Amino acid sequence: MAWIRDSTLSWFQLLCVKVIKAGKVPRHVAFIMDGNRRYARKNNVLKAEGHNKGFDKLAETLQWCLDLGIPEVTVYAFSIENFKRTEDEVDALMELARQKFRRLLNEKEKLMEHGVRIRIIGNLSLLPHDVQKLIAEAMLMTQENNKAFLNVAFAYTAHDEMTNAVRSLSIGVSEGLLLPSDISESLIDRSLYTSDSPDPDLVIRTSGEVRFSDFLLWQLSFSYVYFTEVLWPEFTIWHLLAAVFHYQRNYRHIEEIQSLHKPVEHTNERISSYLTWLYGSREDTLLKLGGKLL
Ligand SMILES: *[C@@H]1O[C@H](CO)[C@@H](O)[C@H](O)[C@H]1NC(C)=O
Repeated sequence: MAWIRDSTLSWFQLLCVKVIKAGKVPRHVAFIMDGNRRYARKNNVLKAEGHNKGFDKLAETLQWCLDLGIPEVTVYAFSIENFKRTEDEVDALMELARQKFRRLLNEKEKLMEHGVRIRIIGNLSLLPHDVQKLIAEAMLMTQENNKAFLNVAFAYTAHDEMTNAVRSLSIGVSEGLLLPSDISESLIDRSLYTSDSPDPDLVIRTSGEVRFSDFLLWQLSFSYVYFTEVLWPEFTIWHLLAAVFHYQRNYRHIEEIQSLHKPVEHTNERISSYLTWLYGSREDTLLKLGGKLL
């Protein structure tokens, strides 16, 4: 199945989308897509088939988010912890990733038409080299797009992300770019894998598990969280609309909390040069992987 699909909503669903859109729509929604394996067990199919269904659901959900006017979506596709699963399952997941990222590259036209920028966040060096290369190509291909954003957390944990940020900051200090006193909440924020994204307004986790599993722990502090029992492959637009509806009912309160906690952006020449170095080295890694730089 394609990443970008055409809308297939019924008139009644469209009507409900219209009603929800009249209210405050979240700018950024994050999904913990849980339940593929339980779905497979329940339906007596292979785990790989469960993951396949899970991907189809992702594509469908992205379309619903576009229909709803949600410009940014982040999904937890593969945690570093998942490497501990059986070799067969990890191999099957990597093969799925290969196929889907290749497919993504073939959907260039649609991505460009919708202005979708794809970003993969995580410790890419843990992935097979050919998958890293596909990821880099997808990110480079869409990097000028800015109408909609899809962030895929892949080989990701929040602990790894924070470790990475601390490491970058300490290199900044030891190379003489930064002073320890330059390190602030906002600079840590800008050193994370998600430096380009606003924090999620709404987080949705499926399959009845009530925890974050090391997903965006820094970024979720002031997000509205919605847990639902449904298994990810069985998620429907009604679940999404319900989550957004709950977010809307709590919106004033969430906004108040968020506005009380705006980190003060403080900047100076050292900070700018550190960020130029940091983003430049990330870009170089992508260009190298994507074969655009020797
Ligand atoms: C990312 O993975 C590599 C390879 O295993 C590891 O050496 C490195 O420490 C990881 N990065 C972070 C920030 O944990």
